[in-house]
Amino acid sequence: MIYLDNAATTLPKPKCVIQAVTEAMQTWGNSSRSSHNNSLLATESIYNTRLKVSKFFNCGDPCRVIFTCNATESLNTAINGIFNPGDHVITTVWEHNSVLRPLYRLQKEQGIELSFIGTDGKGNLELSQLDGLFKDETRAIICTHASNVTGNVADLESIGRWAKSKGLLFVVDGSQTAGILPIDMERLGIDVLCCSGHKGLMGPQGTGLLCLNSEVAVRPLKVGGTGFASYSQEQPQQYPEHLEAGTLNGHGLAGLSASLDFINEIGLEEIYKHEYELAHYFYKKISCIKDIKVYGDWERKPHLATVALNLGEIDSALLADILAQDYQIAIRSGAHCAPLMHKALHTSQQGAVRFSFSYFNTLDEIDRVIEAIEEIGQRRI
Ligand code: ALA
Repeated sequence: MIYLDNAATTLPKPKCVIQAVTEAMQTWGNSSRSSHNNSLLATESIYNTRLKVSKFFNCGDPCRVIFTCNATESLNTAINGIFNPGDHVITTVWEHNSVLRPLYRLQKEQGIELSFIGTDGKGNLELSQLDGLFKDETRAIICTHASNVTGNVADLESIGRWAKSKGLLFVVDGSQTAGILPIDMERLGIDVLCCSGHKGLMGPQGTGLLCLNSEVAVRPLKVGGTGFASYSQEQPQQYPEHLEAGTLNGHGLAGLSASLDFINEIGLEEIYKHEYELAHYFYKKISCIKDIKVYGDWERKPHLATVALNLGEIDSALLADILAQDYQIAIRSGAHCAPLMHKALHTSQQGAVRFSFSYFNTLDEIDRVIEAIEEIGQRRI
């Protein structure tokens, strides 16, 4: 099997991740609940993971690193916990449904107003639209760091600067880029960073991150046990417990901690370079095949190792099935939970097939995939 669905979840995971999860499952109690050694081991390890994450994203206070079960929970917590009726939010057509659906719900139920930054012909965000979208009620801009369809990367530095100049909160969905491109919250002016732990961060599924700067206040999405202040009827105001009710996915976090060590040891630059070289090679070769249409802007760098394409008029789900069944090549087709991006690319009907590479893929695998697509193309003639 050739696995090229790393934008959905990375596979394989580093061996150290599997070992760390297994060890935690054999030794950890419930973190911050009891005073016996197994509970203390979990408490200390999870605190160290918080510290590691806060350094990784230059978030500042480790207590403002909130552990969630996925990026969707992080984004729901942020979106539902920050806005009030009457607020206006600027976002983009690149967004995943994990941003769009919570926003649409607030629009419907609470009268939040939304505006969307559109794209140019190559799927790049039209940042020149920002000034025109701003109004007195604008409270925040929410932007994904990279499109999960095209792999185009947003210029967070410019958006962050613009957001600060207007006094707006800057919320970033780093699900596609965390663990691949550097994200320095302080330097980029990011107030809220949401991401999953199981994609580029190479951790287990069921781990997500919500990193907050020291000023932003978020109402909890869920309330419940925190291991202290048990007689209070209210969720404690103290972070991270303010936003972390219930038992954490400690075992998953043990794996995430190990994957962060793995990434830090190799270095983001090296990981990006490897992935980009494979994807760019694939893009160049594949673009020469008759009837192939590749989406996104490959002239611009950085670009994620994500290549979305179509072969003639073949339905993307059918092409993905042929690749899976006849060639054991694993990719994702369809709409990728990014409806506005597909509308902008005029691919709402056909969808697109998406090849997403990881640090563990090899050039030999890419050559085999190119051969497979060539062969499928010839079968049609
Ligand atoms: N958001 C993930 C993807 O793009 C699941 O495939």
